[in-house]
Amino acid sequence: MLKVTGLTVKYGSFSAIEDVDIEIGKGEIVVLLGSNGAGKSTTFRAISGLSKPSKGKINFEGSLIGGKSPDRIVQSGIVQCAEGRKLFPQMTVYENLIMGAYVHRRKKTQIKQAVEDVYELFPILQEKKHDTAGSLSGGQQQMLAIGRSLMSHPKLILLDEPSIGLAPLIVEQMFDVIQKINKDGTTILLAEQNANAALKIADRGYVFESGSIVVQGTSEELYANDAVRKAYIGA
Ligand SMILES: Nc1ncnc2c1ncn2[C@@H]1O[C@H](COP(=O)(O)OP(=O)(O)OP(=O)(O)O)[C@@H](O)[C@H]1O
Ligand SMILES: [Mg+2]
Repeated sequence: MLKVTGLTVKYGSFSAIEDVDIEIGKGEIVVLLGSNGAGKSTTFRAISGLSKPSKGKINFEGSLIGGKSPDRIVQSGIVQCAEGRKLFPQMTVYENLIMGAYVHRRKKTQIKQAVEDVYELFPILQEKKHDTAGSLSGGQQQMLAIGRSLMSHPKLILLDEPSIGLAPLIVEQMFDVIQKINKDGTTILLAEQNANAALKIADRGYVFESGSIVVQGTSEELYANDAVRKAYIGA
């Protein structure tokens, strides 16, 4: 579905990522692991069109999308759920969801159905549909951010550290929902520092170190890898 080859992204003369190869099959959950500054978000930004690659190819379903504008990439079926959430805090939960359907400008009935689907996935959002996004808890805001990304029915969703700053119980719920979104037919690329939780739901993963991929494999392989365990899982 997505094939990234030889991807390099520079900020000025500094290469944030260099010669990165990633492949994602339709229906998979793939995770990018790595510590702060390793290059996970930069990879996401290149895929979603927010950063221009200085080298390499990004092939999505047979078309080269590297360097295309973010809205064209959304239209092709890739949506990034931003780190830090970037909701509209003064707008209600419902209004934030509607904004997520903007790019496709779907028909009213389709938007209505999409909202219902998000409420089914996150019942708390239905309860709080008239509350402002800014009044929600961190976990609820993250749910809203994911719900908003689902409004355009993406084929591939990029989730950048969805568990960051959340209480352990909420993290668990979050990963359950991510797995459900995947089962409903959306392919998922996840960036996480919480390797333990991520590898439980992922099919495969890549480990970033200083802008390059140093290890890759199935979740079982990564889990069994001593270096990976030591650096990202602990114990
Ligand atoms: N806008 C920018 N300008 C200059 N350098 C940047 C910019 N954004 C990121 N970098 C640098 O690029 C490198 C990769 O950063 P990136 O945000 O991709 O890492 P990350 O793996 O997502 O880290 P984190 O887990 O902290 O989110 C880091 O060295 C970072 O300092
Ligand atoms: Mg990041």
